[in-house]
Amino acid sequence: MRQPVVWVSVVIVIGLMVIITVSLVNMPQATVKTFPADKGPNFIDVSSYPPQMQEYYKIFEQKCSRCHTLARPINSKFAGEDWRKYVYKMMRKPGSGLTPKTAEQIIELLVYDSQVRKKE
Ligand code: HEC
Repeated sequence: MRQPVVWVSVVIVIGLMVIITVSLVNMPQATVKTFPADKGPNFIDVSSYPPQMQEYYKIFEQKCSRCHTLARPINSKFAGEDWRKYVYKMMRKPGSGLTPKTAEQIIELLVYDSQVRKKE
């Protein structure tokens, strides 16, 4: 291992491995990892919610099940303003398909839901 050429190749190979690992970690692959919340119920019974909230629920169902189970947000223990932080975090993920307008509607639903629904 005295030739510099060998060292240069070793450094390049390790460098590539690091780059590949970092890009894999950053990809939206939430479906691969399973969160405990994924195993809970995957719907909310919104039949007693105000009509406006039932509308927002449809948006939530559609937008928040793209990268992971709908059960994940449904069984998370966030409440009130915590949701704002999380929905915005999800919006910033590549390919989320979320806009500030839909994000606000989803936040309104999730905040309302966290006030009325009992979770075990
Ligand atoms: C672009 C893909 C994508 C979309 C769309 C998305 N999520 Fe996520 N979500 C993720 C990923 C990836 C994780 C794994 C944790 C992380 O990377 O933050 C995650 C994790 C979560 C978690 C668990 C966070 C924790 O730390 O316990 C919640 C709750 C959540 N998402 C809610 C939502 C809601 C609500 C929506 C709809 C507004 C949504 N997600 C839409 C990618 C997405």
